[in-house]
Amino acid sequence: MGGTARGPTIGVFDSGFGGLTVLRELLPLIPGAHYVYLGDTARLPYGSKSRETIVRYAVSSARFLEERGAELLVVACNTATALALDELRAALTIPVIGVIAPGAEAAATCGGDAPPGDVLVLATQATVESHAYARACAALGLWAIEKACPLLVPLVEEGWIGEGQIGAARGTWDAGRGTWNAAMSAVTAEVLRIYLGEALRDAPRSRTLLLGCTHYPLLRPAIARTLDELGRSLRVIDSAQATARSVARALGVEGDGVAAGPGLATCEFFATDSVEKFERLGSRFLGRPVRGVQLVDLGG
Ligand code: DGL
Repeated sequence: MGGTARGPTIGVFDSGFGGLTVLRELLPLIPGAHYVYLGDTARLPYGSKSRETIVRYAVSSARFLEERGAELLVVACNTATALALDELRAALTIPVIGVIAPGAEAAATCGGDAPPGDVLVLATQATVESHAYARACAALGLWAIEKACPLLVPLVEEGWIGEGQIGAARGTWDAGRGTWNAAMSAVTAEVLRIYLGEALRDAPRSRTLLLGCTHYPLLRPAIARTLDELGRSLRVIDSAQATARSVARALGVEGDGVAAGPGLATCEFFATDSVEKFERLGSRFLGRPVRGVQLVDLGG
């Protein structure tokens, strides 16, 4: 791996756009790589589906990326990592890295010398029911309280992230009047107040909030505001950076920002549903324009 003239080809897979937050961290860390990203948008959300279905979707998505030349697969989806990591490793011939172990490690180390306290994990229903985070945290001596937040993925997918909404979810966004923005922000803020209020009642000793879903980093400013309102000060972390560092380690690319390969990163994007929507929302997740998305049919 990594011996090609243009650096390694890294496959990155998510049920939708959220995994682009992981790709965003990979690009500066391993800029010499070629990235092939697949968003299985036609079959999203994974987080409300059964284990059997999630495994089937994840394996077919991962096989597609291996066939496109991926030499390492990043499962940039918490739900697929929680429910299908073993099956993915069995089905592929390339190394597979998920987001949950790096996320738990980030939770264990984010406070420096300060004790990490209990870890409150926000995630999809399927991730919570798998208790994959509780196990990963327990392995590091941490107690995790897991809270399912099923409304957050649709809000993010619609671009209702509460601050600088993603594009115009419906109709025309009137930036001058700001009507849509205010209404959408209010809905997202209320949902966060309910989820975080409930979760913090169950987890009074938690000092770390782990965003256990690749969509949630887009809600970070709104989450921080809600925590302020609730009078709670928690370290908020996500697994994207820690996952990118795990990938760099697996590729033998140590140190900060060291290129594996000679050039600037190149990216190919595939989606199983509307490429227009992927380009529009994906650009916000990635923090740079997402262009040339190709439609792929992976079946049902
Ligand atoms: N990407 C999924 C995750 O990180 C969230 C979206 C979904 O439910 O498919 O858990």
